Amino acid sequence: MKFITVKTYDELSILAADIIAEVVKTKKNAVLGLATGSSPVGAYKKLAEYNAKGELDFSSVTSVNLDEYEGLDGSNDQSYRYFMNENLFKNINIDVNKTYVPNGCASDLVEEGKNYDALIENLGGIDIQLLGIGLDGHIGFNEPDDVFTKETHPVELDPSTIEANARFFESIDDVPTRAITMGMGGIMSAKKVLLIANGAAKKDIVEKAFNGPITPKVPASILQLHPDVTVIFSEN
Ligand code: F6R
Repeated sequence: MKFITVKTYDELSILAADIIAEVVKTKKNAVLGLATGSSPVGAYKKLAEYNAKGELDFSSVTSVNLDEYEGLDGSNDQSYRYFMNENLFKNINIDVNKTYVPNGCASDLVEEGKNYDALIENLGGIDIQLLGIGLDGHIGFNEPDDVFTKETHPVELDPSTIEANARFFESIDDVPTRAITMGMGGIMSAKKVLLIANGAAKKDIVEKAFNGPITPKVPASILQLHPDVTVIFSEN
């Protein structure tokens, strides 16, 4: 594992964007595994800058996102599909028909999970998976549990996740309590994993995840078993 500590969020964002850019440049028809949340926003801005300058071409890229809230469709400004359109897809020359986010409005989320895993497999797997990390150690929405779940699956969000994500909603009561998330199988089968975490509040959980025991109680700790992980932590 490669662990990089930097001082600022801007440094983290440039480094993360450069690692993703390298995959887009070197892998034909690259498949990017993408995340939402506040952590990747800076990297997405940088990628859009590189694209605008003509340095990076996304026309043959496919993307698969980690997760989506249950019951929110792409027209809802709190959905992760909406977030991705606003923060990345509309700012780069990716074909939006080749951008995938689990459908949180599917009538059967277990079935949706199966279809999503089949899609990832049919794409030949993920070349690089970008991850943030929750304060409880979640990656995607794989919350602390007694087991690691392999498949893309519906989940009950942890109260601490609902509280952390309330900042994006008008009130905590508006935060969906359920979601669908890529499982550990999809994440661990990515050829490369890039986890970004910024700020003092994430320091302890990053320490636990990468220097503590591998346990489903700290979901990100499974990444210790992945052969190609880069973690970028910024102090601010
Ligand atoms: C988002 C996701 C989550 C976030 C995590 C950190 O698609 O899967 O695991 O990466 O909750 O969120 P931020 O970056 O907002 O601290």
